[in-house]
Amino acid sequence: MARLDDTETFHNIKFPGHMHTQDSLNYAANFKFQDTDTVIVTYPKSGTTWMQEIITLVLNKGDPALARSQPNWSRAPWLEQYYCPQILQASTGPRIITTHLPYHVLAPALRDSKAKVIYVARNPKDVAVSYYHFHKMANFLPDPGTFSEFLSDFLKGTVHYGSWFDHVKGWTGHAQNFQKFLYIAYEEMWQDLRGSLEKVSRFLQCSLTEEELKSAQKYCSFNSMKDNIMVNYTLIPREIMDHSKGKFMRKGKIGDWKNMFTEEQSDVFDAVYSARMADSSLLMGIL
Ligand code: A3P
Repeated sequence: MARLDDTETFHNIKFPGHMHTQDSLNYAANFKFQDTDTVIVTYPKSGTTWMQEIITLVLNKGDPALARSQPNWSRAPWLEQYYCPQILQASTGPRIITTHLPYHVLAPALRDSKAKVIYVARNPKDVAVSYYHFHKMANFLPDPGTFSEFLSDFLKGTVHYGSWFDHVKGWTGHAQNFQKFLYIAYEEMWQDLRGSLEKVSRFLQCSLTEEELKSAQKYCSFNSMKDNIMVNYTLIPREIMDHSKGKFMRKGKIGDWKNMFTEEQSDVFDAVYSARMADSSLLMGIL
């Protein structure tokens, strides 16, 4: 499946045609979740791959064998991407499913579900910077133009996968609708990886010994993951992701936006953030 220049629009949101079709998006929206499913939900560039690795390592008691032998997209497939049904059909045991879909698209399918939902959010200024760089190396995303142009599209919510604000507010604002819902911020994972692993392990009801926790922590660190070909996307052909134009595991830092935003861009962002998040109880430090 190439379709690198194609775009699929679904519920008024653009998706890369490379991995998405109307059929695959409809499949996701009508998916039959099982109570034993764990669903990772993120807006792109918020720590998706990191959470896939954390869950893999927790469920494998810190043993990196699976994380180092099976690509992340195969052990935790994206529900809305065309290859997902094939992977889930072949899977035995509890499923880990990843999605970037907004709440309103997936809510009907998840209604009354006892699946465990983990929502990872990240400072949107860092998301915007990470997403901008990702556009430059991912040939299935449009040319982002200048950072200023991209930022304007990001704030308007016209980029692929839609509005960050709608995504975060949709999911966190309906957390109470889920029987099992864990919210975790990228920044929390970064500042307290060990505590975050413990949090995920409690949520998944999979306890780890001290030694297992230490091992999990080691293998989901940025340095370890950047060299793991099962998560750093170097297995993807260059025509699709061009690693000469940037790395998927780029910096893995918090506050990197300060190296990219001008003061004026930051002020505009803060004003839009205040207005768009006024009706949300989510308090994210964006400074
Ligand atoms: P940067 O581009 O800021 O470096 P996603 O998986 O949702 O696409 O998110 C990718 C971002 O998460 C990238 O951010 C990547 O470097 C970062 N990331 C992935 N694994 C990480 C880890 N173990 N520690 C810190 N950041 C990580």
